[in-house]
Amino acid sequence: MRKILISPSILNADFAKLGEQCLALQQSGADWIHCDVMDGVFVPNISFGLPVVEGVYKSVDIPLDVHLMIRDPLPYVEKFVNAGAKIVTFHAESQCDGAKVCREIHRLGATCGVSVKPNTPLEKVKDLLEMADMILIMSVEPGFGGQSYIALSTEKIALARKLFPDKLIQVDGGINAHTAAQAVKAGADVLVVGSALLNAADKKGFIAALKALG
Ligand code: DX5
Ligand code: ZN
Repeated sequence: MRKILISPSILNADFAKLGEQCLALQQSGADWIHCDVMDGVFVPNISFGLPVVEGVYKSVDIPLDVHLMIRDPLPYVEKFVNAGAKIVTFHAESQCDGAKVCREIHRLGATCGVSVKPNTPLEKVKDLLEMADMILIMSVEPGFGGQSYIALSTEKIALARKLFPDKLIQVDGGINAHTAAQAVKAGADVLVVGSALLNAADKKGFIAALKALG
């Protein structure tokens, strides 16, 4: 039995009640809280930044998994770690020296994630992925919650599992009970779940069911 970690995305949460909602996710069995930071440049949407991450940090005891969808992550890594990020993930496609960003994340004692968009082949960024602790396979185009899982992502997860047997493999976008089963079967260890969890009446039961896929 493999351990599956659940990292709920708060992108579509009710921000008027964010603290309460994060605590409820923790009490429902979430392992991490996934914070989607968007700058309106790397992706066509602006979500939230440092003050919101700080607020989430104060509301829960579980690790914050910060997914940076920003053009230039390097100057922000330390700020997000200081705001409470335990896992910092940036995009292989962002305009930065990725090796430097990985070293900076590790220097600060955080876990380093590197993410690839659906159209980025793993082989193209293999050296950078080699430096990461976790590989985030985007199963939708980053930018918005509530999109449908891109079916080809399952093969990409399987390839990531094969190329990087010792790394955590995270999948993000369109995860529900059905797509989670495919992703876990292909080798995913960390499931980011946004709208499917938000809409689930029994959050505890839903999280337990996802973990039981392992
Ligand atoms: C998309 C974000 C995801 C997304 C997940 O850019 O990185 O974390 O909000 O939400 P769902 O599960 O609704 O696709
Ligand atoms: Zn995300």
